[in-house]
Amino acid sequence: MAQADDHHDGVFVVFEGIDGAGTTTQSQRYAAWLRARRRLAHVTREPSGGPMGSLLRLVITQRVSLPATHRDAAMALLFAADRLDHVESEINPHLRDGYVVISDRYDLSSVIYQSMSGADEGPERTAFAAWIRDCNRYARRPDVTVVLDVSPEVAAQRRRNRGGASELFEEAELQAKLARAYLKAEEILPGDRIVHVDGDADVDAVAAAVIEALAPFVKEGP
Ligand SMILES: Nc1ncnc2c1ncn2[C@@H]1O[C@H](COP(=O)(O)OP(=O)(O)OP(=O)(O)O)[C@@H](O)[C@H]1O
Ligand SMILES: [Mg+2]
Repeated sequence: MAQADDHHDGVFVVFEGIDGAGTTTQSQRYAAWLRARRRLAHVTREPSGGPMGSLLRLVITQRVSLPATHRDAAMALLFAADRLDHVESEINPHLRDGYVVISDRYDLSSVIYQSMSGADEGPERTAFAAWIRDCNRYARRPDVTVVLDVSPEVAAQRRRNRGGASELFEEAELQAKLARAYLKAEEILPGDRIVHVDGDADVDAVAAAVIEALAPFVKEGP
């Protein structure tokens, strides 16, 4: 399912969901499943491992702070810049080499997280979300995005089990808003191919559902 302007077998797959939805777990599981079927798979994530992505990780773990005024806008711009670098330096080269590139988050995260953490529902938030989409207008579109829908309570329990320092965006009320936004992902990115998978089930059941949902888009190896 390559995009029209490309001549390769690479497929660009994105996993999305709230914190603790299982995007990292399922990205790895799907890559392992592909490799067992002789398909090249490359797992990557956003923020990326590049210079702007590294800066963003310091912001997310609250070791670097951005100015309070327009912080969400500054974050959205950093994410958009990181994304263009990520596409050029890592995603496109692997797609050209025929890999299934699996990104743990992409611009849907930007639009949902940055727009939901600021203004309440209404015209201001809608305009801000549209602006973030516009900031990403040059970012290559995924061939398919898998949204892992989990209840905020399940995700919170998983994060507690996982341990580690708490991150920006993790409080319960915000996570509930993010979960509702993910349910309506196709309204946020009209024109993108989006599939929803119920992420509340156990890891094996979710992995099986992901494989089934992606089967129309990703060929197995030779
Ligand atoms: N389906 C599942 N059932 C039970 N536990 C799960 C499931 N999927 C993932 N986990 C566990 O829940 C925790 C969170 O999963 P994971 O790190 O994959 O989530 P994430 O969406 O990547 O979170 P974040 O957005 O914070 O990076 C991990 O400890 C993982 O082992
Ligand atoms: Mg993760």
